[in-house]
Amino acid sequence: MSKMNVGIIGCGNISGIYCKAGKRFANWRVLACADLDMARAKAKAAEFEIPIACSTGELLRNPEIEMVINLTVPKAHAEITLAAIEHGKHVYGEKPLATTRQAGRRILEAAQAKGVRVGSAPDTFLGGGLQTCRKLIDDGWIGQPVAATAFMTSHGCESWHPDPDFFYQPGGGPMFDMGPYYLTALVNLVGPIHRVCGSAGAAFPERRITSQAKFGTMIKVHTPTHIAGVFDFASGAIGTIITSFDVWAANLPRIEIYGTTGTLLVPDPNTFGGPVQVRRAGASEWSTVPLAFGYQDNSRGLGCADMISAIAHHRPHRASGDLAYHVLDVMEGFLDAARAAAYVKTPTALTRPAPLPLDLRDGEID
Ligand SMILES: NC(=O)c1ccc[n+]([C@@H]2O[C@H](COP(=O)([O-])OP(=O)(O)OC[C@H]3O[C@@H](n4cnc5c(N)ncnc54)[C@H](O)[C@@H]3O)[C@@H](O)[C@H]2O)c1
Repeated sequence: MSKMNVGIIGCGNISGIYCKAGKRFANWRVLACADLDMARAKAKAAEFEIPIACSTGELLRNPEIEMVINLTVPKAHAEITLAAIEHGKHVYGEKPLATTRQAGRRILEAAQAKGVRVGSAPDTFLGGGLQTCRKLIDDGWIGQPVAATAFMTSHGCESWHPDPDFFYQPGGGPMFDMGPYYLTALVNLVGPIHRVCGSAGAAFPERRITSQAKFGTMIKVHTPTHIAGVFDFASGAIGTIITSFDVWAANLPRIEIYGTTGTLLVPDPNTFGGPVQVRRAGASEWSTVPLAFGYQDNSRGLGCADMISAIAHHRPHRASGDLAYHVLDVMEGFLDAARAAAYVKTPTALTRPAPLPLDLRDGEID
């Protein structure tokens, strides 16, 4: 199988797993990496035997590179993605697709005009845990989904991330940072979301960094850090979500789906594995369901591999720009709804991505 040459832009915290993915998957390899900070690009190239470390401009002008993986901070996502599209390259980016709907729409329109594909993290919904959940729902184990809950509570990222400022700027916060995992999982399981409302606030106007590199530095908070939302799926099912960086401890599930004949306990959507549990009507305890699919370990990059395979097979890719745009629309919708104290509509013609085949070997997609 021929390998597509990929260039990574943004060589920070998350880039290592994508560099590893370039060796794991059969259909792509990392030819070059770039960063505003050239020392970071050179260090990544040395660590993962990437042939070229260069500037963003050089990477974009390299005709051998067919796809860009955009791993920059959220506020740079749209600018880098649009520049890559302008150079005729497919782009797969970290979440969120962009920090505003307007920028998200510009990306989708530019990609369509250039005839290139756009894909976006998260791809955890393609992992063994969430694909098993999808199969259980599609096979009717809990009947028709009628409601879902999703809870992501933490006290933020300043204790572990080396450079956590972006989590507290517009386009960050718990909804834009973690919401994509939860909402993408929910849309893949229950379908698109039709309207949203919510409340949003920030309990702490400043944050003190306690991770090493910037220990003691204060961050001003410029985005809501606790968002509580209610939403309706197009199917009629009713959703509830809390995403928070204001909570020290909680005892809540990550995601539960309530169906007409049972309940599905969904694993952490920021992981690829289980456990998956079901309790059907009349049962007195939960049953743990064996995972039916591969990719149960940290398989970030699976969405890129699927997109490249989709290009080769002329089929839609699963972690698509359209899916990421719908999730962005919903996330921004919660903040807009909180400001307006009203429901916000999130119309879409999106259909759920196709499930993965059951019998894939590691590194394979189709
Ligand atoms: N850190 C994680 O655990 C994690 C997990 C999943 C997803 N993500 C997502 O991945 C993205 C990157 O996160 P990170 O934690 O790696 O951030 P980071 O701050 O560690 O790294 C970002 C890198 O991008 C570079 N950069 C910023 N703007 C740029 C530009 N205009 N051109 C070129 N390079 C630029 C920075 O110099 C930096 O090296 C974010 O969207 C984040 O939400 C992070």
